[in-house]
Amino acid sequence: MKKNPPFIFFLLIFSSFSFIFSLFTCFLLFFYVLLFLHVSLLPTRSFFIFSLSVCSRIFFQCSSLSPCFLATRKNVFKTYESLPSDMPDEVLLWRASMQALRPGIPFERNLKIAFMFLSVGPLPLAPLWEQFFRGHEHLYSIYVHAHPGFVPKTPRSSVFYGRYILSQEVRWGEISVIDAERRLLGNALLDFSNERFVLLSETCAPMFNFTFVYDYLIMSQYSFTAIYDEIGPQGRGRYLPNMMPEISQDQWRKGGQWFELQRKHAIAIVSDIKYYPKLRDYCKPHCYIDEHYVQTMMFIEFPREMANRSLTYVDWSRGGPHPAMFGKEDVTLEFLDRIRKDQKCGDIGQPDHACYLFARKFSPGSLEPLLKLLHFS
Ligand SMILES: *[C@@H]1O[C@H](CO)[C@@H](O)[C@H](O)[C@H]1NC(C)=O
Ligand SMILES: *[C@@H]1O[C@H](CO)[C@@H](O)[C@H](O)[C@H]1NC(C)=O
Repeated sequence: MKKNPPFIFFLLIFSSFSFIFSLFTCFLLFFYVLLFLHVSLLPTRSFFIFSLSVCSRIFFQCSSLSPCFLATRKNVFKTYESLPSDMPDEVLLWRASMQALRPGIPFERNLKIAFMFLSVGPLPLAPLWEQFFRGHEHLYSIYVHAHPGFVPKTPRSSVFYGRYILSQEVRWGEISVIDAERRLLGNALLDFSNERFVLLSETCAPMFNFTFVYDYLIMSQYSFTAIYDEIGPQGRGRYLPNMMPEISQDQWRKGGQWFELQRKHAIAIVSDIKYYPKLRDYCKPHCYIDEHYVQTMMFIEFPREMANRSLTYVDWSRGGPHPAMFGKEDVTLEFLDRIRKDQKCGDIGQPDHACYLFARKFSPGSLEPLLKLLHFS
């Protein structure tokens, strides 16, 4: 993404100069036309200067147009591969926070699901996602937040082509994670058709086909994110009294970062100026902000609209600060069925009562068995 801007900058400077020169030669031309009209005989030297000015005028006019020509020929703007909404965060969040006040939509609205990938760079499971999305073009949008230095080499035929948003560096457990999530939500909210907002990582894989996932999310009246009250140092222990009066200790909540939100709740997050500053200032490692910000805010603002659980399966059974990574050997039909047929979350009126639509973390090596066992195409 960083490769092209200097080139564009150079073209702009060059075309500005050419433009000034061509203005200047325009004046010369005008002057000589006046002379022609009013003076019966022009000296030969003057005629020579006149021809010269005509030629230079043509040359500079062409050269001021050439950058545009070059730009279209070489696709300098298109290979920039990011969405048109290259806005600073402040502008993006402000624009994304807008909501229609007039009730009732006077036309048939096409509801889409925004799939938002928070990744470091490449998406090793992209071939699986390509299969998952194929044939449902008008029902989803994709947004990818990668490291700002990452240059995507996505082929044009890919569903990920041109879906990289303007990004900044992300550090695990710090405020920059929340900023990236809000940037993804902001971009996705600009598309009025997006109705559900799914946060994913590059190690996430879908467990069901697109139709199933779409119906499950669109039909649900809840937003999904794990929200719980943990007594002890890893939960309430991360709370600081400085967060009063916005957040009291009994309102402090914890949960995994991977959410599936409704539009209303996504707008609340990009609009928030109440909880964000408190967590930014007082929730620093070892308070991992991505485990508390959305969870606490949603618990205070919309408790009854939350399912209090995530739709993304993670395996914490192996212990440590990070969940287990599944490799090639782990991915078997039994393994996938165990996740897909899990019904321990209780019946909240969802199709097949499935608890999980997505799972993580899958290593790049697990792509092959996933493709073979899930066969979405
Ligand atoms: C999608 O998955 C569901 C549940 O596994 C299945 O019943 C349905 O037939 C699948 N649809 C397609 C189009 O494959
Ligand atoms: C989620 O938790 C809130 C607050 O404890 C509760 O009001 C709500 O009913 C819960 N959601 C579900 C789906 O049980």
